[in-house]
Amino acid sequence: MKGQLILGVISFAFLFKIAICNEFHRIIDGYKASEAQFPYQVYFDVLDFTNLEKSSYWSYGCGGTLVSKRIILTAAHCLDSPKISAVRIYFGALSSNETLFEPGKKRLIVKRKDIIIHEDWEPHALYNDIALIKLPIDVNFNEYIQPAKLPSPTVTYIGSEATTSGWEGSLSAEEKEPVPYLKYFNVSIISIDQCYKAMFRHSYKIYPSSYICIRQSNNSPCHGDSGGPLIVHNDTDSVLVGIVSFAAGGCTENYPTVYTRVSSYLDWIRKNAGEVLNGTET
Ligand SMILES: *[C@@H]1O[C@H](CO)[C@@H](O)[C@H](O)[C@H]1NC(C)=O
Ligand SMILES: *[C@@H]1O[C@H](CO)[C@@H](O)[C@H](O)[C@H]1NC(C)=O
Ligand SMILES: *[C@@H]1O[C@H](CO)[C@@H](O)[C@H](O)[C@H]1NC(C)=O
Repeated sequence: MKGQLILGVISFAFLFKIAICNEFHRIIDGYKASEAQFPYQVYFDVLDFTNLEKSSYWSYGCGGTLVSKRIILTAAHCLDSPKISAVRIYFGALSSNETLFEPGKKRLIVKRKDIIIHEDWEPHALYNDIALIKLPIDVNFNEYIQPAKLPSPTVTYIGSEATTSGWEGSLSAEEKEPVPYLKYFNVSIISIDQCYKAMFRHSYKIYPSSYICIRQSNNSPCHGDSGGPLIVHNDTDSVLVGIVSFAAGGCTENYPTVYTRVSSYLDWIRKNAGEVLNGTET
Protein backbone atom coordinates (compact mmCIF):
# COMPACT_ATOMS: atom_id res chain seq x y z
CA MET A 1 0.00 0.00 0.00
CA LYS A 2 2.86 2.35 0.77
CA GLY A 3 4.47 1.71 -2.59
CA GLN A 4 1.31 2.84 -4.28
CA LEU A 5 1.17 5.95 -2.19
CA ILE A 6 4.54 7.07 -3.39
CA LEU A 7 3.99 6.85 -7.12
CA GLY A 8 1.99 10.04 -7.29
CA VAL A 9 4.61 12.03 -5.49
CA ILE A 10 7.40 10.64 -7.58
CA SER A 11 5.82 11.73 -10.85
CA PHE A 12 5.43 15.15 -9.28
CA ALA A 13 8.82 15.24 -7.67
CA PHE A 14 10.68 13.90 -10.64
CA LEU A 15 10.53 17.29 -12.24
CA PHE A 16 12.20 18.88 -9.28
CA LYS A 17 14.74 16.18 -8.52
CA ILE A 18 13.48 15.46 -5.09
CA ALA A 19 14.12 12.20 -3.40
CA ILE A 20 10.98 10.86 -1.83
CA CYS A 21 11.01 9.08 1.48
CA ASN A 22 9.23 5.95 0.35
CA GLU A 23 8.87 4.41 3.74
CA PHE A 24 6.99 6.84 5.83
CA HIS A 25 7.40 8.78 8.89
CA ARG A 26 9.41 8.01 11.93
CA ILE A 27 10.12 10.57 14.61
CA ILE A 28 13.82 11.29 14.20
CA ASP A 29 15.72 13.06 16.96
CA GLY A 30 12.59 13.57 19.01
CA TYR A 31 12.12 13.46 22.78
CA LYS A 32 10.92 10.35 24.58
CA ALA A 33 7.34 10.69 25.73
CA SER A 34 6.56 10.26 29.42
CA GLU A 35 3.74 8.17 30.84
CA ALA A 36 0.30 9.62 30.09
CA GLN A 37 1.80 12.55 28.19
CA PHE A 38 -0.08 11.68 24.96
CA PRO A 39 -3.21 9.90 26.16
CA TYR A 40 -4.94 10.40 22.80
CA GLN A 41 -2.23 8.58 20.83
CA VAL A 42 -2.76 5.00 19.70
CA TYR A 43 -0.95 2.63 17.38
CA PHE A 44 -2.25 -0.41 15.59
CA ASP A 45 -1.09 -3.62 14.01
CA VAL A 46 -2.83 -4.91 10.91
CA LEU A 47 -3.95 -8.48 10.28
CA ASP A 48 -3.01 -9.80 6.86
CA PHE A 49 -3.50 -13.51 6.19
CA THR A 50 -1.27 -13.28 3.15
CA ASN A 51 1.75 -12.66 5.42
CA LEU A 52 2.71 -16.32 5.00
CA GLU A 53 6.43 -15.71 4.95
CA LYS A 54 6.34 -13.82 8.24
CA SER A 55 6.33 -15.16 11.78
CA SER A 56 2.99 -13.52 12.48
CA TYR A 57 -0.05 -12.52 10.47
CA TRP A 58 0.02 -9.26 12.41
CA SER A 59 2.39 -6.50 11.44
CA TYR A 60 2.92 -2.95 12.59
CA GLY A 61 0.43 -0.59 10.95
CA CYS A 62 0.42 3.06 11.89
CA GLY A 63 -0.35 5.63 14.55
CA GLY A 64 -3.76 7.15 15.16
CA THR A 65 -5.66 9.50 17.46
CA LEU A 66 -8.58 8.84 19.76
CA VAL A 67 -11.19 11.59 19.37
CA SER A 68 -14.09 10.07 21.29
CA LYS A 69 -14.95 6.89 23.23
CA ARG A 70 -15.58 5.09 19.93
CA ILE A 71 -13.65 6.88 17.20
CA ILE A 72 -10.03 6.83 16.05
CA LEU A 73 -8.74 8.94 13.18
CA THR A 74 -5.77 7.84 11.08
CA ALA A 75 -4.47 8.06 7.51
CA ALA A 76 -6.22 6.33 4.59
CA HIS A 77 -2.91 5.05 3.21
CA CYS A 78 -2.44 3.01 6.41
CA LEU A 79 -5.56 0.95 5.78
CA ASP A 80 -6.26 0.92 2.06
CA SER A 81 -4.79 -2.51 1.35
CA PRO A 82 -7.66 -4.93 0.65
CA LYS A 83 -5.59 -7.62 2.40
CA ILE A 84 -6.13 -6.06 5.82
CA SER A 85 -8.90 -7.95 7.60
CA ALA A 86 -8.64 -6.42 11.08
CA VAL A 87 -6.62 -4.01 13.20
CA ARG A 88 -5.33 -4.49 16.75
CA ILE A 89 -5.27 -1.14 18.51
CA TYR A 90 -3.09 -0.25 21.50
CA PHE A 91 -4.10 2.57 23.83
CA GLY A 92 -2.10 4.14 26.65
CA ALA A 93 1.22 2.60 25.52
CA LEU A 94 4.74 4.01 25.31
CA SER A 95 6.56 0.99 23.88
CA SER A 96 5.33 -0.96 20.90
CA ASN A 97 6.65 -4.16 22.49
CA GLU A 98 3.25 -5.78 22.85
CA THR A 99 4.29 -8.20 25.59
CA LEU A 100 5.75 -5.50 27.84
CA PHE A 101 3.54 -4.61 30.81
CA GLU A 102 2.59 -0.94 31.01
CA PRO A 103 0.12 0.32 33.61
CA GLY A 104 -2.21 2.16 31.22
CA LYS A 105 -2.01 -0.14 28.22
CA LYS A 106 -5.20 -1.52 26.66
CA ARG A 107 -5.78 -3.46 23.47
CA LEU A 108 -8.80 -3.80 21.21
CA ILE A 109 -9.36 -5.67 17.95
CA VAL A 110 -11.52 -4.06 15.28
CA LYS A 111 -12.82 -5.80 12.17
CA ARG A 112 -12.45 -4.48 8.65
CA LYS A 113 -16.14 -3.61 8.41
CA ASP A 114 -15.65 -0.98 11.11
CA ILE A 115 -12.91 0.79 9.18
CA ILE A 116 -14.04 3.66 6.95
CA ILE A 117 -11.60 5.04 4.38
CA HIS A 118 -12.45 8.37 2.78
CA GLU A 119 -14.39 7.65 -0.46
CA ASP A 120 -12.29 10.18 -2.37
CA TRP A 121 -8.90 9.03 -1.10
CA GLU A 122 -6.54 9.44 -4.06
CA PRO A 123 -3.34 7.47 -3.53
CA HIS A 124 -1.62 9.09 -6.51
CA ALA A 125 -2.48 12.69 -5.84
CA LEU A 126 -2.39 12.10 -2.05
CA TYR A 127 -5.70 13.82 -1.46
CA ASN A 128 -8.12 12.95 1.34
CA ASP A 129 -5.66 10.80 3.27
CA ILE A 130 -8.00 10.15 6.18
CA ALA A 131 -9.70 7.09 7.65
CA LEU A 132 -11.88 6.45 10.67
CA ILE A 133 -11.93 3.38 12.89
CA LYS A 134 -15.13 2.68 14.82
CA LEU A 135 -14.50 0.87 18.08
CA PRO A 136 -16.95 -1.93 18.95
CA ILE A 137 -17.15 -0.82 22.60
CA ASP A 138 -16.52 2.40 24.52
CA VAL A 139 -12.97 2.83 25.75
CA ASN A 140 -12.81 3.98 29.34
CA PHE A 141 -11.06 7.28 29.78
CA ASN A 142 -8.50 7.60 32.54
CA GLU A 143 -5.11 9.18 33.16
CA TYR A 144 -3.57 7.17 30.29
CA ILE A 145 -6.40 7.25 27.76
CA GLN A 146 -8.12 10.50 26.79
CA PRO A 147 -9.47 11.84 23.52
CA ALA A 148 -8.11 14.84 21.63
CA LYS A 149 -10.57 17.55 20.59
CA LEU A 150 -11.53 18.21 17.00
CA PRO A 151 -10.29 21.56 15.69
CA SER A 152 -12.22 24.71 14.97
CA PRO A 153 -13.44 24.81 11.34
CA THR A 154 -12.25 28.38 10.89
CA VAL A 155 -8.80 28.57 12.52
CA THR A 156 -5.79 28.05 10.15
CA TYR A 157 -3.28 27.45 12.98
CA ILE A 158 -0.51 29.05 10.88
CA GLY A 159 2.36 29.99 13.19
CA SER A 160 0.96 27.89 16.05
CA GLU A 161 3.37 25.70 17.96
CA ALA A 162 2.31 22.08 17.55
CA THR A 163 3.37 18.66 18.83
CA THR A 164 3.74 15.59 16.66
CA SER A 165 4.35 12.11 18.05
CA GLY A 166 4.89 8.55 16.91
CA TRP A 167 6.51 5.13 17.30
CA GLU A 168 8.95 3.20 15.19
CA GLY A 169 11.37 6.03 15.72
CA SER A 170 15.03 6.11 16.51
CA LEU A 171 16.83 8.68 18.64
CA SER A 172 18.77 9.63 15.55
CA ALA A 173 18.83 8.15 12.08
CA GLU A 174 21.82 6.00 13.10
CA GLU A 175 21.03 5.14 16.70
CA LYS A 176 18.11 2.72 16.58
CA GLU A 177 16.31 1.44 19.61
CA PRO A 178 15.62 -2.26 20.05
CA VAL A 179 11.89 -1.70 20.49
CA PRO A 180 10.16 1.40 19.16
CA TYR A 181 9.22 3.90 21.83
CA LEU A 182 6.79 6.82 21.62
CA LYS A 183 8.63 10.05 20.78
CA TYR A 184 7.63 13.56 19.94
CA PHE A 185 8.85 17.00 19.02
CA ASN A 186 7.40 20.49 18.90
CA VAL A 187 7.37 22.45 15.69
CA SER A 188 5.49 25.36 14.17
CA ILE A 189 2.79 25.16 11.52
CA ILE A 190 3.49 26.94 8.22
CA SER A 191 1.18 28.08 5.44
CA ILE A 192 0.37 25.88 2.46
CA ASP A 193 2.22 28.28 0.20
CA GLN A 194 5.39 28.26 2.32
CA CYS A 195 5.14 24.49 2.48
CA TYR A 196 4.96 24.07 -1.28
CA LYS A 197 7.86 26.49 -1.82
CA ALA A 198 10.05 24.68 0.70
CA MET A 199 9.15 21.35 -0.86
CA PHE A 200 9.64 22.19 -4.50
CA ARG A 201 11.81 25.32 -4.35
CA HIS A 202 9.48 27.24 -6.61
CA SER A 203 6.01 28.55 -6.22
CA TYR A 204 3.73 28.54 -9.21
CA LYS A 205 1.54 25.81 -7.76
CA ILE A 206 0.14 25.48 -4.31
CA TYR A 207 -1.02 22.58 -2.22
CA PRO A 208 -4.72 22.10 -1.57
CA SER A 209 -6.14 23.70 1.56
CA SER A 210 -6.86 20.21 2.92
CA TYR A 211 -3.15 19.92 3.76
CA ILE A 212 -1.48 21.33 6.85
CA CYS A 213 2.32 21.46 7.06
CA ILE A 214 5.00 21.73 9.71
CA ARG A 215 8.20 23.69 9.25
CA GLN A 216 11.25 21.76 8.13
CA SER A 217 13.72 21.06 10.93
CA ASN A 218 16.26 18.52 12.10
CA ASN A 219 13.37 16.55 13.50
CA SER A 220 11.15 14.64 11.17
CA PRO A 221 8.37 12.14 11.28
CA CYS A 222 9.44 9.01 9.40
CA HIS A 223 8.66 5.34 8.94
CA GLY A 224 5.78 4.10 11.01
CA ASP A 225 4.53 7.46 12.25
CA SER A 226 1.92 7.77 9.49
CA GLY A 227 -1.61 8.30 10.70
CA GLY A 228 -0.37 9.86 13.93
CA PRO A 229 -1.36 13.22 15.39
CA LEU A 230 -0.36 16.84 14.97
CA ILE A 231 -1.69 18.56 18.06
CA VAL A 232 -2.03 22.19 19.07
CA HIS A 233 -2.52 22.77 22.79
CA ASN A 234 -4.73 25.64 23.81
CA ASP A 235 -5.38 26.55 27.44
CA THR A 236 -7.69 23.64 28.07
CA ASP A 237 -7.43 21.08 25.29
CA SER A 238 -5.24 19.00 23.01
CA VAL A 239 -6.64 19.81 19.58
CA LEU A 240 -6.04 17.43 16.67
CA VAL A 241 -5.18 19.67 13.72
CA GLY A 242 -3.39 17.16 11.45
CA ILE A 243 -2.83 13.50 10.57
CA VAL A 244 0.67 12.45 9.39
CA SER A 245 0.38 11.90 5.63
CA PHE A 246 3.57 12.31 3.61
CA ALA A 247 6.97 13.92 3.26
CA ALA A 248 9.42 14.56 0.49
CA GLY A 249 13.10 13.90 0.92
CA GLY A 250 14.73 11.32 3.12
CA CYS A 251 13.43 11.19 6.65
CA THR A 252 16.29 13.30 7.95
CA GLU A 253 16.27 15.82 5.16
CA ASN A 254 15.11 19.34 5.64
CA TYR A 255 11.69 19.29 4.03
CA PRO A 256 8.34 20.10 5.59
CA THR A 257 6.01 17.24 6.45
CA VAL A 258 2.48 17.25 5.11
CA TYR A 259 -0.49 16.31 7.27
CA THR A 260 -4.15 15.91 6.41
CA ARG A 261 -5.90 19.02 7.76
CA VAL A 262 -8.56 17.68 10.14
CA SER A 263 -10.67 20.85 10.00
CA SER A 264 -11.27 20.17 6.27
CA TYR A 265 -12.99 16.89 7.16
CA LEU A 266 -15.22 17.79 10.10
CA ASP A 267 -18.42 17.10 8.14
CA TRP A 268 -17.03 13.79 6.86
CA ILE A 269 -16.00 12.79 10.38
CA ARG A 270 -19.39 13.71 11.86
CA LYS A 271 -21.28 11.92 9.09
CA ASN A 272 -19.27 8.71 9.37
CA ALA A 273 -18.87 8.65 13.13
CA GLY A 274 -22.56 9.35 13.66
CA GLU A 275 -24.02 9.12 17.13
CA VAL A 276 -20.89 7.79 18.75
CA LEU A 277 -19.06 11.04 18.09
CA ASN A 278 -21.87 13.32 19.16
CA GLY A 279 -22.53 11.53 22.40
CA THR A 280 -19.00 11.86 23.66
CA GLU A 281 -17.70 15.17 22.38
CA THR A 282 -18.30 18.08 24.68
C1 LIG B 1 9.35 -7.18 25.27
O1 LIG B 1 8.90 -7.25 26.61
C2 LIG B 1 9.05 -8.53 27.20
C3 LIG B 1 8.36 -8.51 28.56
O2 LIG B 1 8.90 -7.51 29.38
C4 LIG B 1 10.55 -8.87 27.28
O3 LIG B 1 10.71 -10.15 27.84
C5 LIG B 1 11.14 -8.85 25.87
O4 LIG B 1 12.53 -9.02 25.92
C6 LIG B 1 10.85 -7.50 25.20
N1 LIG B 1 11.26 -7.57 23.81
C7 LIG B 1 12.25 -6.83 23.32
C8 LIG B 1 12.58 -7.05 21.89
O5 LIG B 1 12.86 -6.03 24.01
C1 LIG C 1 -9.57 24.88 22.57
O1 LIG C 1 -9.93 24.28 21.33
C2 LIG C 1 -11.17 23.58 21.38
C3 LIG C 1 -11.38 22.87 20.05
O2 LIG C 1 -11.32 23.75 18.97
C4 LIG C 1 -12.30 24.57 21.70
O3 LIG C 1 -13.53 23.86 21.80
C5 LIG C 1 -11.98 25.26 23.01
O4 LIG C 1 -12.95 26.25 23.25
C6 LIG C 1 -10.61 25.92 22.96
N1 LIG C 1 -10.29 26.45 24.27
C7 LIG C 1 -9.72 27.64 24.42
C8 LIG C 1 -9.43 28.05 25.82
O5 LIG C 1 -9.44 28.37 23.46
C1 LIG D 1 6.29 20.73 23.66
O1 LIG D 1 5.05 21.41 23.81
C2 LIG D 1 4.26 20.93 24.88
C3 LIG D 1 2.90 21.59 24.81
O2 LIG D 1 2.99 22.96 24.67
C4 LIG D 1 5.00 21.21 26.20
O3 LIG D 1 4.23 20.71 27.27
C5 LIG D 1 6.34 20.48 26.14
O4 LIG D 1 7.08 20.78 27.31
C6 LIG D 1 7.14 20.90 24.92
N1 LIG D 1 8.31 20.03 24.87
C7 LIG D 1 9.48 20.46 24.44
C8 LIG D 1 10.59 19.47 24.47
O5 LIG D 1 9.66 21.59 24.02
